[in-house]
Amino acid sequence: MRVIVTGAQGQVGRELLLRAPSGFNVIGYGSGELDISDSVQVEEVLARIKPQLLINAAAYTAVDKAESDIERAYAVNRDGVAHLARAAQAQGIAVLHISTDYVFDGNHTLPYTPGDVTAPSGVYGSSKLAGEQQLQQHCSRHVILRTSWVFGAHGNNFVKTMLRLGRERDELAVVADQRGCPTSAGSIADTLWALATIFRRDGMLKWGVYHYSGAPACTWYDFADEIFNQARSEALLEKKPRLKAITSAEFPTQAKRPGWSVLDCQTLEQDYGVSTRSWKVELQQVLQQLGSASLVI
Ligand SMILES: NC(=O)c1ccc[n+]([C@@H]2O[C@H](COP(=O)([O-])OP(=O)(O)OC[C@H]3O[C@@H](n4cnc5c(N)ncnc54)[C@H](OP(=O)(O)O)[C@@H]3O)[C@@H](O)[C@H]2O)c1
Repeated sequence: MRVIVTGAQGQVGRELLLRAPSGFNVIGYGSGELDISDSVQVEEVLARIKPQLLINAAAYTAVDKAESDIERAYAVNRDGVAHLARAAQAQGIAVLHISTDYVFDGNHTLPYTPGDVTAPSGVYGSSKLAGEQQLQQHCSRHVILRTSWVFGAHGNNFVKTMLRLGRERDELAVVADQRGCPTSAGSIADTLWALATIFRRDGMLKWGVYHYSGAPACTWYDFADEIFNQARSEALLEKKPRLKAITSAEFPTQAKRPGWSVLDCQTLEQDYGVSTRSWKVELQQVLQQLGSASLVI
């Protein structure tokens, strides 16, 4: 089965290319080779390559910058997805698309299910929700996989930021009133390939919206604490910095962050047998990867 991966240089995109199961002929495109905001380019590439499946890992992901770079965020996250959706529908290509917990307002106290009411509070979340809607409107054979708090060995993420700051500072203040589920990029890629494998076998999927994240839920403070404990064990850090728990109000950002980002992943397990993984185990693998490849900045 021929598969196109867009956003192939991103955290998830890279893992998708690295973890493709045998039997898939995968062609990855970075933003320089395929700009999804360019409809002509999208149509041309899809028509030339003729994949059976497209996995969209491309997105404008700069959450704070999006607040002032509204046009570009929508050009990629809404219009880019619309271009992919229309071209895929016209050419009979199924689409697996990644979305985010930021489509919710973050005011829940129970895990968000795929059917819960969406109400994004910032430009990034709104543009991603608009992308979901474009895909739903224009492409009948699609899965939207919402995920959260992505980390991995490649690209920029919280784990790598903590490791860098941990080397530079003796004390770090970390937000302790936002709760969510760290998710390794590798586990997202494996989940998407599990769906792709079922699609290859059955020629169809139960199309719709699903949630996938790591477990259990924690705060950014808990996540940082575990990163430093494990980094010490893996000899990636000489000493653990003192951690100070702060509130979101004490760490103002351009975009408001959801206080509650916990996703309910049960339907993915019920429909496809894909279980959530322990983010602590995944973290250890990422740290070992970073240590062995000297990938830490
Ligand atoms: N990171 C998170 O914590 C998080 C949380 C929830 C959901 N998600 C979702 O997960 C997916 C993957 O995110 P990620 O963490 O892998 O993000 P990432 O590392 O920022 O990767 C996104 C990739 O998309 C590419 N891209 C941007 N604009 C593009 C365009 N117009 N055409 C083609 N490619 C373009 C970027 O390339 P350039 O760098 O060259 O621009 C980048 O390589 C996204 O849908 C994101 O919304 C992420």
